Amino acid sequence: MCGIVGVLGHHEVAPILVEALKRLEYRGYDSAGIATVEDGRLDRRRAVGKLVNLSDLLVHDPLAGKSGIGHTRWATHGAPTEANAHPHRAGRVAVVHNGIIENFRELRADLSGRPFESETDTETIAQLCERHMEAGMSPREAAVATLGALEGAFALAFLFEGENDLIVAARKGSPLAIGHGDGEMYVGSDAIALGPLTDRITYLEEGDYAFVTRDGAEIHDARGRLANREMRTIAPQAAQVDKAGHRHFMAKEIFEQPVVLSTALAAYSSAGQVTLPEGDLDFSNTDRVTMVACGTASYACAIAKYWFEQLAGLPCDVDIASEYRYREPPVSPASTALFVSQSGETADTLAALRYARGKAGRILSIVNVPESSIARESDLALPILAGVEVGVASTKAFMNQLAVLAHLAILAGRQKGHIDPTREAELLADLARLPALLNQALALDPKIAKRTGKLAEARSVLFLGRGPMYPMALEGALKLKEISYIHAEGYASGELKHGPIALVDKTVPVVVLAPRDALFDKTVSNMQEVLAREGRVWLITDATGAQEAGDGVWQTLVMPEINPIFAPMLYAVPAQLIAYHTALHKGTDVDQPRNLAKSVTVE
Ligand code: F6R
Repeated sequence: MCGIVGVLGHHEVAPILVEALKRLEYRGYDSAGIATVEDGRLDRRRAVGKLVNLSDLLVHDPLAGKSGIGHTRWATHGAPTEANAHPHRAGRVAVVHNGIIENFRELRADLSGRPFESETDTETIAQLCERHMEAGMSPREAAVATLGALEGAFALAFLFEGENDLIVAARKGSPLAIGHGDGEMYVGSDAIALGPLTDRITYLEEGDYAFVTRDGAEIHDARGRLANREMRTIAPQAAQVDKAGHRHFMAKEIFEQPVVLSTALAAYSSAGQVTLPEGDLDFSNTDRVTMVACGTASYACAIAKYWFEQLAGLPCDVDIASEYRYREPPVSPASTALFVSQSGETADTLAALRYARGKAGRILSIVNVPESSIARESDLALPILAGVEVGVASTKAFMNQLAVLAHLAILAGRQKGHIDPTREAELLADLARLPALLNQALALDPKIAKRTGKLAEARSVLFLGRGPMYPMALEGALKLKEISYIHAEGYASGELKHGPIALVDKTVPVVVLAPRDALFDKTVSNMQEVLAREGRVWLITDATGAQEAGDGVWQTLVMPEINPIFAPMLYAVPAQLIAYHTALHKGTDVDQPRNLAKSVTVE
């Protein structure tokens, strides 16, 4: 998944392209590049690594031109080298691409003999297009003929030598927006990229391609017919967010959680009742909830499964999107399908949504980006209101996904007659106490910072939890591995003895997330099993739990008391801070960890 941008402007485009790419860096940062046309001459600059390297290159080796395309890459085919960086060029054609061309091997075999420079699937697109032009096609005809040969998912922008006023844009499987300026036109992977340039956006639909010139965009559908696509005026995009005095966006976002959670609580409840910020929702005829997501968002769903089952008595499945979509699960029309995604662009989650469309009774989504593809393709998209999340490791979005899911479970509980209005009001009161409790948990930051030094020396760390703290343990392990690069696994406390306990010795820290709940004694027994094998237990519990846990733990972190059902929301904070401070000790790139990207728009 990569970010692409294109500008047909009145000014030099190189700085505009680089600025837009900055806003797309969340999609990948393995390499970046731009191509422009200046007096009909096509040229490009590319650099490995973060965008700043491309900016430096352009200072020493500028690129003139008022028409251009740009790309920030998350490597799929071929290592992150300059040769593999986009734009890819063949003769008179330059191409930027987000997605994967699945038949590129066949295409490349068919193009054998042509001078390939890279290992990428994208270069085949440029070569194929150039071959069509050599055979006498115009740039527009060549691009359309090329599109017809491509299989897979892509968003593309083509730029041509000799064409100062043309970008051909195409979308199949990966989102692409066209921006309308005053005598200028833009193309971007999303509205965020184009935010400061325009608020007038047309989203291409599946299979669409567009001939974009400074006068506008001529859009065709997958069958080549002229298509009329709505131009929307979108809400102003958040200006470049800053770190508000924190060293990293991730730290800022962790510390923002009490505030963003309060925003979500206010939007989803009023006078002791669940309310929705938009739309209606009726679970009374729903007999099953299926939740589908990836990564951290899937752990939010796994926690919410406990809530839907306990508060609403509703059977509930949680699926990882990449598995769900290919398993061909039966979907009952009496079920509600719920898709959770911070970005709203995750390719697997979007594909899973499309699978469920027309089968499930209702398609709901919980997103942070209201203009995203997942939001636009849902019957009802519920916003998590977390604000822009920049850190690649999701923190505040996870918190607010949980907040929205908790409200939906309570609503379903009331509508299904599983809880009465008094219980609903009590649960909402418990949630309302959470922002203050999060602040208390955040006050443990200096303590956590001091104690993570030893964790940073570990080669492997285990996280344990029971009940809704089990998925929280999975999330704690994910946070640690993605930003500190330490191997970490989450397990259900009771499952440890069925295999994973073989990993335990005195070099393996075991973080136990265990509020004093009904199952606490059982968790203590599991902890004793670890201690008996010289495992170093870091117990995170409340004051009562700390008292009852007994001796032998390596260290204890005492958390505020909370209704155990919502404990994952509170215990997310120490889990995030443990990962953050361990990463600081290790000196990794916290906001943009290696090999990752914020939005995963390829399968
Ligand atoms: C981990 C993380 C990822 C995302 C996952 C889904 O910290 O951020 O695991 O949760 O890639 O992304 P969205 O929520 O955008 O669909």
